Amino acid sequence: MSETLENLYSETRQFPPPADLAANANVKAEAYDEADENRQWFWEQQAKRLSWAKPWEQVLDWSNPPFAKWFVGGELNIAYNCVDRHVEAGHGDKVAIHWEGEPGDTRSITYADLLKSVSQAANTLTELGITAGDRVAIYLPMIPEAAVAMLACARIGATHSVVFGGFSVDALSTRIQDADAKLVITADGGYRRGKPSALKPTVDDAVAQCPSIEHVLVVRRTGEDVAWGEKDLWWHETVEQAGDKHEPQAFDSEHPLFILYTSGTTGKPKGILHTTGGYLTQTSYTHNAVFDLKPESDVYWCTADIGWVTGHSYIVYGPLSNGATQVMYEGTPDTPNRGRFWEIVDKYKVTILYTAPTLIRTMMKWGDDIPAKYDLSSLRVLGSVGEPINPEAWMWYRANVGHDNCPIVDTWWQTETGSVMISPLPGVTSTKPGSAMTALPGISADVVDDEARSVPNGGGGFLVLREPWPSMLRTIWGDDQRFIDTYWSRFGKGAGVGEDWIYFAGDGAKKDDDGALWLLGRVDDVMLISGHNISTTEVESALVSHPSVAEAAVVGATDPTTGQAIVAFTIPRGNVDTSGEAGEKLIQELRLHVAKKLGPIAKPRQIMLVAELPKTRSGKIMRRLLKDVAENRSLGDVTTLQDSTVMDLISSGMTSTK
Ligand code: WT7
Repeated sequence: MSETLENLYSETRQFPPPADLAANANVKAEAYDEADENRQWFWEQQAKRLSWAKPWEQVLDWSNPPFAKWFVGGELNIAYNCVDRHVEAGHGDKVAIHWEGEPGDTRSITYADLLKSVSQAANTLTELGITAGDRVAIYLPMIPEAAVAMLACARIGATHSVVFGGFSVDALSTRIQDADAKLVITADGGYRRGKPSALKPTVDDAVAQCPSIEHVLVVRRTGEDVAWGEKDLWWHETVEQAGDKHEPQAFDSEHPLFILYTSGTTGKPKGILHTTGGYLTQTSYTHNAVFDLKPESDVYWCTADIGWVTGHSYIVYGPLSNGATQVMYEGTPDTPNRGRFWEIVDKYKVTILYTAPTLIRTMMKWGDDIPAKYDLSSLRVLGSVGEPINPEAWMWYRANVGHDNCPIVDTWWQTETGSVMISPLPGVTSTKPGSAMTALPGISADVVDDEARSVPNGGGGFLVLREPWPSMLRTIWGDDQRFIDTYWSRFGKGAGVGEDWIYFAGDGAKKDDDGALWLLGRVDDVMLISGHNISTTEVESALVSHPSVAEAAVVGATDPTTGQAIVAFTIPRGNVDTSGEAGEKLIQELRLHVAKKLGPIAKPRQIMLVAELPKTRSGKIMRRLLKDVAENRSLGDVTTLQDSTVMDLISSGMTSTK
């Protein structure tokens, strides 16, 4: 990746924090120096945000790398930290969750309500024979019971494994089997796109293949008929009838909190294991620092699903440990209309919004007039996560959602890192559109070349983390060797180089002339064009910077002359004419536009205009499928597509590969 094009990211726009936000920010610039001076001391200060039943004896035990132990000897209860202590501090009446169902039904849940429900659920789980260390699968829609179920597990020391409600029977059963779970918590269904969408039949089929499951606890959400078996129990007949007093017991700082599966590029999904003290310390700290959360006045909304790590860290553990008031939404952004998100922001006066680039680009495609219809003036900080955000999508977000004065925090992290690692601080950093900027205080991120040498400013290479961090994954569930092989055997001591253990993130990155970090996507998504490394992200951003383009996905297809050639799938913005000749003209214009932005080497061989892109359930583009399509087409055949054969072909492939 050392040959990254010279002229990429010539982005010069820069936005300092608003003065009033900077003056009152939770975290100031000094934090970087303090953490640099003594990293362990720094994290020790952050751990004091939490209430510990027993103090730790050692901050970090790194004597057996890459297996870390944080806050060794300390004991705490996560649910106590997320719920009870806020009630004890007199905030029982404060709303924890403003829940908005897709059909428009709502619930406001205070911290006192949450304490009652979590205690009841903890009592029920205990009655069902779940004890500390047991695994519980959670397969729920975005309803408050999802958070309650997670917290109830944490409260009794059971390890939860949340499986995204959109996953299939196979995905659910392999995850249950891998973790050897004893209980599944599910619902009859949830609402999606205006209709009930059943979950229970999927669970029934999965459980038939999972003898480890003793009980299935079912929340009634849609009221649709469900088949009923002998393992099944209704939530409202058990949890809601259970005693509402439950004494939380403290667990070791390294007690397993959850397993969350992340799909590897090859092979079976990896069960990423997170533990207790370090995880809660860093999610709590980062949620406070990155969003500048003021629990007394902010209304926070993270639009992720609880089935992803973003939902774990920034809907459940970070915000609740900080005593935040947040919005939780069940459904899709276009039900009943494309203004739903903005209607929610307006209705609850949301001040902090955390969403994904894929959603921002979708909103761009739907048009500026939609957010313009709502009052979004309550917003003060905007966040982005999940993939690189193209500079133009960033600018759109700032102008159309953030009324040109909300700092945007582009947060880089992974299921494996547990918390945000690289991000601006909203009261400190002058942001550049498209850059995640710098590692947070206490985090040591770097960009290295093939031989693990740090690249100078202006250089590109592989993103690595040089020091252990509190919310790091502890291993891959049941497979320590795969943990070592995947993350620690590429660079550093694990690869037989030097004395340090270096974490390989699998992402390409670049340092600009000021040392700011630009994430370039997964290393597997780098193309080799006539001997030059070009990242798919770079070309996608160039395309999205054209006013007619809402979204783009780029792949490298085998090419007899250049090795690989760039093939782009592009979604035009709503108002653009793409019929016949107009479409052909646009394609030529876009090819030239990319050549102008990035240099002739990056000019796409082929551009297809499409209505949709194939995405994973978490909104990441499935480039592999597009590549299949791109490579099966005869060369030079530039076809203008509008939601037809190619995309149908891709979708039929998607169902079997998710
Ligand atoms: C991968 C991790 C982190 C929660 C959601 C995804 C990509 C994530 C950014 C960002 C550029 C990003 C990386 C990373 N990614 N955030 N702000 N800028 N890329 O978690 O499913 O574990 O995926 O998402 O490629 O490695 P995940």
